[in-house]
Amino acid sequence: MKTVIFILLFIPSIAFAAPLQEKYTDLPDPISVDAGKKLYQENGCSLCHGDQGRGDGPLAEGLNNKPRNFQDYEEMKRMPTIRMEQAIHNGLKGTAMPAFGQFSDDEIGVLTNYLRSFLVKSYSDLKMCAFQTYHINAKNLRKPFRVEVDEPEKFNAKVRGKTISFNGKNWPNLLDRKNHRTHFRVMKDDQIVSLISVKINRCQKEMDEMLKNLSFKKAGLN
Ligand code: HEC
Repeated sequence: MKTVIFILLFIPSIAFAAPLQEKYTDLPDPISVDAGKKLYQENGCSLCHGDQGRGDGPLAEGLNNKPRNFQDYEEMKRMPTIRMEQAIHNGLKGTAMPAFGQFSDDEIGVLTNYLRSFLVKSYSDLKMCAFQTYHINAKNLRKPFRVEVDEPEKFNAKVRGKTISFNGKNWPNLLDRKNHRTHFRVMKDDQIVSLISVKINRCQKEMDEMLKNLSFKKAGLN
């Protein structure tokens, strides 16, 4: 950390804290729901979770711990995919959620995608370092669309053409936490087309390495 502060103070271009590295990906295609819907109906998920995932199936009323609403943004953005997978595979202690140990990993993947589809057309988990900008190509999405970030004071998302660029507004501010999860959503009218969950790491080693290289370049040492 000391070296970072030292370098930030002495290299003016870094002191402005524009992100220093680019990453690229595509916006995922819409979730295909047919296979998931079949599994969901045939295995009785809808009896508790409801046909539309609102937690209002015919058995839900009698339960102490009611199934949550899979259409609720605030609840669902905080639910990592791994947690859904584990709940399906192992069940949830202290609730009526049974274990479905018979499902293959593929089937569990199909089911979690289907549960996401109650709220969004597509979902993705991204990982980035604090000093990076992520460019997401939304080539299959018809304009107009817009992007809303969960923490506008900390993060920026811009749309240029069909590319969505996401980064920390002033990335050194993100270094106070080892990692940070935030979310943004691609919107068309009032619908969430895509929910993107981003895990931001300090990436201390990569950062030290990169800053060292930059400072050598500035000083004309390589
Ligand atoms: C007998 C009722 C019942 C059935 C059948 C059922 N669930 Fe659940 N499920 C629950 C309850 C209750 C919870 C706990 C409250 C919550 O988290 O929504 C839960 C939670 C979950 C969760 C969220 C886990 C978490 O961490 O909160 C997932 C994902 C899930 N169920 C998927 C499924 C799938 C997929 C099926 C069918 C294969 C299914 N459930 C069948 C009652 C049920």
